[in-house]
Amino acid sequence: TLNTNGSATFYGPLGENEAFVASDPSAVVQNSRRIIYLKDGDLAAIRASDCRIVNGQGEPVERPVVALKTDAADYSLGDYPHYMLKEIFEQPDVVQRIMTAAVSEDSTVILRAKRNSNRSGRFGTDPALDERLEGVGRIILIACGTSWHAALVAKRWFEEIAGVPTEVDIASEYRYRNPILSGDTLCVVISQSGETADTLEGLRRARASFVQALAFVNVETSTIARESDGAIPLLAGPEIGVASTKAYIAQLTNLFLFSINLARAKNRLSIDDAADWVRCFRDIGPAMTTALARRPDVVSIANRFGGSNNIIFLGRGYQVPTAMEAALKLKEISYIHATAYPAGEFKHGPIALIDIQTPTVAIIPNDSTFSRMASNVQEIKARKGPVILVTTDSAQDVEDLSPHIIRVPDVAEPLLPLLTIIPLQLFAYEVAVLRDCEVDRPRNLAKSVTVE
Ligand code: AGP
Repeated sequence: TLNTNGSATFYGPLGENEAFVASDPSAVVQNSRRIIYLKDGDLAAIRASDCRIVNGQGEPVERPVVALKTDAADYSLGDYPHYMLKEIFEQPDVVQRIMTAAVSEDSTVILRAKRNSNRSGRFGTDPALDERLEGVGRIILIACGTSWHAALVAKRWFEEIAGVPTEVDIASEYRYRNPILSGDTLCVVISQSGETADTLEGLRRARASFVQALAFVNVETSTIARESDGAIPLLAGPEIGVASTKAYIAQLTNLFLFSINLARAKNRLSIDDAADWVRCFRDIGPAMTTALARRPDVVSIANRFGGSNNIIFLGRGYQVPTAMEAALKLKEISYIHATAYPAGEFKHGPIALIDIQTPTVAIIPNDSTFSRMASNVQEIKARKGPVILVTTDSAQDVEDLSPHIIRVPDVAEPLLPLLTIIPLQLFAYEVAVLRDCEVDRPRNLAKSVTVE
C-alpha cells in the first residue's frame, strides 16, 4: 500500500474506467491523452478509477496531469509501408512548421524556449532568447548518435555565423571527463527523446557545475526538457521509426535559427543580414521536396549496390557530419558495415579499404569542397573502387567521375546538410527494404537509450 492513512492524492478517473502504464506516451496515445509523468523514485498505485503516488521517501506527492498535444494521425502509417519512409517524406512539412512557429512575417527569428520555472535560469520567460544570449562566451554541445551529428553541424554555424567558440562532446564521454567550464559557458543538449541516459547525465553534470543548460528536444515533457534551464521544442511531431530522420532535420532547422539568434545577440549579424539568412532558409522545404521526388534515382543505385557488405561515406566541411549520419542510417537499418571519414583523412590509412567490392559514397556538392572531393574520387577510381556521387544540380562534368549520380538542388553551402542527407536517408531505407530488414524496429536497437 502506498500509505495507510489514505492521504495520498486521488487523481480520480484517468481514462474511461481504465488506466495504462507505459514507458513512453506514444505507446498509449491511441487510448488516452492525459498523462502523469512520474519522477525517479516515485511509486504509483493505479486502479481503473484512480491513482495514488508517493515519492521515494513514501510521502504522498502530486504529479501534474499533462494533456498530450498530439494528433492520432502522427501515429498512423497512412499509405506508407513503414514509419521511416513516412517520416522522411514529412520533412519538408516539418521545416515549414518550425519556420511558421519560430520566424515572424518579416523574417525575424523569434525562437521560443520554454523556461523551467523551478530553475533560476538566465532565460526568463521571455519568448525571445536573444537578449539572454549576449553574455554567452562559449558553447558546449552534448548529444548522442544522430543528435551528435546535428551538433557537429551546429558547431560550424555557431562559430562561422555567430562567432561563438563551440565544442562538441559525445555525451557518454562528456559525463566522465572533467570539462573546463566557466560562467559564460552555455551547455546545449540535443535529444529527440529527451530521455537518453548519457545525454541526461551530461546535462546534470553541466548543471552541477552551475552552467546554464538549454535543451533542443522533441518530447517537450521529457526528463531532459524538464531538467534544463530552458527547452526549445523541435516540433518534428512524434518520431516512431527507430532510425531518426525528421527529428534530425528538425534539430538542424532549430539549431540554425538559434545560430541566427545568437549572431544577432552577439552583434555579428545586422537585422537585414539575419533576415537574408532566414529568406535563404525558406528555400530548404521546397528543395527537399524536389530531392524527395528523385527517389527513383536512389532506388536504382540501391538495387545496384544494396548487396555490398561494406560501404564507405566521404565528405568535407559541412558534409563530414552528413557522411557520418548517412553511415549510421545504413548501419542501423540494413546491418551493412558502413563507415564515414572526412575525405581528407582517407589517404591516411582508410584508402587501404578500397577494392572493387567496396563502394564509396562521395558527397560532392558544387561548393568550396568540390575540387578536393573530385581528386579524392579520382584516387578511389584509380584503385578500382566503385563510386556513388551525391552532388548538386549545378555541378559540372561529374559524369566523368562516376556514372552513379544522385543530385539535390543547390542551396547556400552552410545549408546543404539539410539537403544532401535526404537521398542518403532514402538510400539506407531502400537498401534495408531490399534486404528484407525490419526497417522501423531494427535488431538490437531501441528508440530511446534510457540505460548506459
Ligand atoms: C539515430 O537514428 C539512432 N536511433 C540513435 O543514434 C539516436 O540518435 C541516439 O540514441 C540519440 O537519441 P536521442 O536523440 O533521443 O537522444
